Order: sequence, then structure tokens, then C-alpha cells
Amino acid sequence: MIELRGIRKSFGAKEVLKGIDLVIPTGSTTCVIGKSGSGKSVLLKHIVGLLKADAGTVLIDGRDLESLSHAELFSMRKKIGYVFQGAALFDSMTVFDNVVISLVEHGVHDRSILESEARRVLSSVGLLPELTDDGSTAFEREYAILRNKKPSDLSGGMRKRVGVARALVGQPEYIFYDEPTTGLDPVTSQQIDDMIGDLARKLQVTSLVITHDMFSIFNIADNVAMIVDGVVRFQGDVPALRATNDPEVVDFLARYVAEGF
Ligand SMILES: Nc1ncnc2c1ncn2[C@@H]1O[C@H](COP(=O)(O)OP(=O)(O)OP(=O)(O)O)[C@@H](O)[C@H]1O
Ligand SMILES: [Mg+2]
Repeated sequence: MIELRGIRKSFGAKEVLKGIDLVIPTGSTTCVIGKSGSGKSVLLKHIVGLLKADAGTVLIDGRDLESLSHAELFSMRKKIGYVFQGAALFDSMTVFDNVVISLVEHGVHDRSILESEARRVLSSVGLLPELTDDGSTAFEREYAILRNKKPSDLSGGMRKRVGVARALVGQPEYIFYDEPTTGLDPVTSQQIDDMIGDLARKLQVTSLVITHDMFSIFNIADNVAMIVDGVVRFQGDVPALRATNDPEVVDFLARYVAEGF
């Protein structure tokens, strides 16, 4: 379980997070919503340790991130897969190199380990057929083509999947997605949502999804948290979100949802 208690963060004179309290229960998919600039990405960066809070506590599996040694923080980070906003692939690198980069950076150079992890994660995100043990030639043919592609050879939806595949390397327990469907058409967005839901079920990962996309929320969220003015203004399940009378939340939903849900 991940728990945030009273997280505060300012950049210069601007206070972005003003005391965030949030619980992300193990095994659930939690969506975080809020206006652009409300601090969603900043919040995520606190959970993965990329930013340090001015005040407050981040607890992961009961451990305070602040209290961890360098080595402990390192192994904690391995439990977490992070899909960056915009996928953030390296354009000059192949799909294979993009996917295994964290392993290589952590000193894994064994070719067969890297190749088999790339096969596994690219299959998990649906860019390759289901992985079987029999080394099917069809699978290997598709893998050989995909692994050498560059991001510019891929569609937007495929690039997002590669970004997710990279986050799945090392079999994380938690996976965080920053705006996974932004910039995709509705059909592709739905496919990405389905993949997020499938991964949560199949790999039993706890997911945190930052999104503007109300369709995504209704598709995949067990819990929803909405950030307004630096605090969590609403937290609850989708029926509670639909039922709330909070004018800030109702207004947000009205702006972002074209059709009534
Ligand atoms: N490293 C930084 N230095 C200074 N200001 C920052 C930094 N990172 C974020 N901010 C500011 O913090 C605020 C929140 O940014 P953040 O990226 O978290 O918004 P967001 O909710 O993710 O928005 P979007 O939906 O557009 O992605 C913004 O005003 C942003 O300019
Ligand atoms: Mg953001």
C-alpha cells in the first residue's frame, strides 16, 4: 500500500501541493484527476522519489521513503514502474534498447536475459503475441522486426505501449501511468485502457493512473482522487464520483465529459 500524508511542495513562491493525503490500496487501480497544472505529475514524482517534499510523508509498504538508505531506496524503486507523460522514448534508440535501458543502467549486460525480458514485456503490452514456451517461429519473426524499430516507425498507441513495456521490466508491484491516453484517438485510448486493466489483473499490479480522460476513469478506476488547489478534494469510487454534489468536482466533470455519464 502507498500512503501520502500531508505532502507539501512549493516551487519558488508558488505552492503547488498544500497537504496531500492519499491512500493507494494494494491491488487497486487509482485514478488521479485535476486541472492542467494542478500538480498531478509533481505528486507522482514524489512517490517515485524524483522530487522531495517540503513537508509530509510518503509511505510505501509501511516504510517512510525519507528513512530509507540509498540501497533501500534503490530496491524500493525496483518495485515501481513509471510510465512517463508522453511515453518519453529515446528517438535514436531501438524499441529493444528503449525497453531494457533500466536493466542496462543497473549493470545487466547478459544478452539472453535482456532479450528474454524484452520478449516478455513487449508481449505483456500486446505488441507481440502471447508468449509461449515453445519458441514459436511466428513470435520470433515478429519480435525480430519489432525489437529493431525506432519510435518514429511506430504509431502513437504503439509508442505508449513501448513506454508501458519499459515500465514492466523487472516485474514491478506498482505501476504509475502519467497521462497514458493523452493525444490518442478514442479507439486507441480505449485499447490502452483495456491494456491497463488487463495488466492490473494478470500481473496483479497496483496501478496509479493520472489522467484527463473521463472515459478512462469510468473504464478502469477502482478509486478516484481529484486534486483541487493543492489538496485532495475528492476521493472515492466511481459511483461516489457520479453522486457527489461538490460543486468543484461537478464543474470539472461537466467540463471534461462531453456526454453525460
Ligand atoms: N521542476 C519544477 N520547477 C518549477 N516548477 C515546476 C516544476 N515541476 C512542476 N512545476 C510547476 O508545478 C505546477 C504543477 O505541475 P504538474 O506538471 O504537476 O501539473 P499537472 O497537473 O501534471 O498538469 P498536466 O495535466 O498539464 O500534465 C505547474 O505550475 C508547474 O509549472
Ligand atoms: Mg502532468
